[in-house]
Formats: sequence, structure tokens, C-alpha cells
Amino acid sequence: MTVVVGIVPAGGSGERLGAERPKAFVVLAGKPLLDWSVEALEPICDRVVVAAPRGQRAESRGQRVDGGPSRSASVRNAVLAAPEADVFVVHDAARPLVTEELVRRCIDALEGFDGAIAAARLTDTVKEAGGDGRVRRTLDRSLLWAIQTPQVFRADVLRRALDVDEAALAAATDDASLVESAGGSLRVVESPRDNLKVTTAADLKLAEALLGC
Ligand code: CTP
Ligand code: MG
Repeated sequence: MTVVVGIVPAGGSGERLGAERPKAFVVLAGKPLLDWSVEALEPICDRVVVAAPRGQRAESRGQRVDGGPSRSASVRNAVLAAPEADVFVVHDAARPLVTEELVRRCIDALEGFDGAIAAARLTDTVKEAGGDGRVRRTLDRSLLWAIQTPQVFRADVLRRALDVDEAALAAATDDASLVESAGGSLRVVESPRDNLKVTTAADLKLAEALLGC
């Protein structure tokens, strides 16, 4: 039996959203952002561990551990609380529109890889420019992906990837980049752009609109 543990990093303050409480506890369509993610993971995972801001007492779902000083430090705290896991499904509290179907596709895609990560195709043209704004080149969009969560990993690979110092954890914007640095093999799993990250107040409005509120 493979033990699958869900991890929801929810330890951020939500500075760019600017709400009166940490972002994960801001209400979207009647429930905290965090609960949307936990509810998508619960039917699929043996259990779900949430890394929440230290001292945050608001009611919400999932087992709690304290968040850390960076997103990856929060993930590491949750990983350390689940020594029984064979597979970790990491999904940000900031992406409430995730579906069970996407989580299942990421888990299925893990076969033969160390990690399988949700990603959307780009619709914009992407160029590289220098610090002075001068365009250097146009990148081949067909090969580029905007990376999201869920990100699913073999548990031993993620544990090893997170076994780095605080500075390396703080520099990583996702878990997959740490797994890459540790030599792990990853694949992308095509995901809709609707699985958006709530960063600003406009994103929250967009999420409400997509939910039909
Ligand atoms: N996160 C975390 N621990 C941290 C920082 C972030 O668990 N120390 C989580 C957030 O709660 C969020 C996810 O990582 O679910 C993605 O981070 P982000 O969208 O940047 O959220 P915040 O850091 O809360 O927002 P901001 O950067 O605007 O302060
Ligand atoms: Mg942040």
C-alpha cells in the first residue's frame, strides 16, 4: 500500500493581498482559501498536513504544523511531520480552484519519475531582455510552461531535496526546483490556467468569478 500524504503550505502572511488576516484564512465563496485546497486533497490522500502561520487559531480543516520563515521551510516542517509517507502531494493554499481530477492526474503521472508537476501552457509571447530593457531574444513558447501546484513527489526524493540550508530553502520558489537541484527527474502535467494563484485582490475577484459567485 502506497501512503499518500497531502501537504498544504499556508504559512504566508499574504502581504500582496493586503487583507486583515493571513491569505490562507481569507474567505472565498463562503470558506477560507485553505479549505478549498484541503477539500480537494482529502478524498485522495491518506491524510493532509497544513503548515499554518505560527499562532493562527482560526478554524479550518487538516492537521496543523507551524509554518517556517519561507514557503519551502513550511513544506519541510510538514514533510517532517509525515515520516510514514511514500508519496507527497504539495498544493498551495493560494490555489483554491484546484480539482480532484488534476490531483489524480499528477499522481498517475508520477510513474517512472521522481516528481510530476501541474503546469499551464503559456499564451503570451516570452522574450528575454537585459537589465537596460534591450530585448535579447524571443523564446520558443511551445517549450515553456508556467508552473503551478499540485506538485507530486516520491517522498524520499522530496525529503532529500529539502535537506538544504535555510538560504537555499528561501531562494526556491517551488519544491520542484529543489528536486531538480538534487538531480531528480520531473515531468509536467498539463493543467488549466484556471488553477490560478491568488496573489492580489484582483486574483481573488477572478477566482470568485470563475466559481460563478
Ligand atoms: N507560504 C508558506 N510559508 C511561508 C510563505 C508562504 O507556507 N513562509 C505559502 C503561502 O501561504 C501560500 C504559498 O506558500 O499558500 C505560496 O506563497 P505566496 O502566494 O507568496 O503567499 P504569501 O507568501 O502568503 O503571499 P505574499 O508573498 O504576498 O506575502
Ligand atoms: Mg510569498
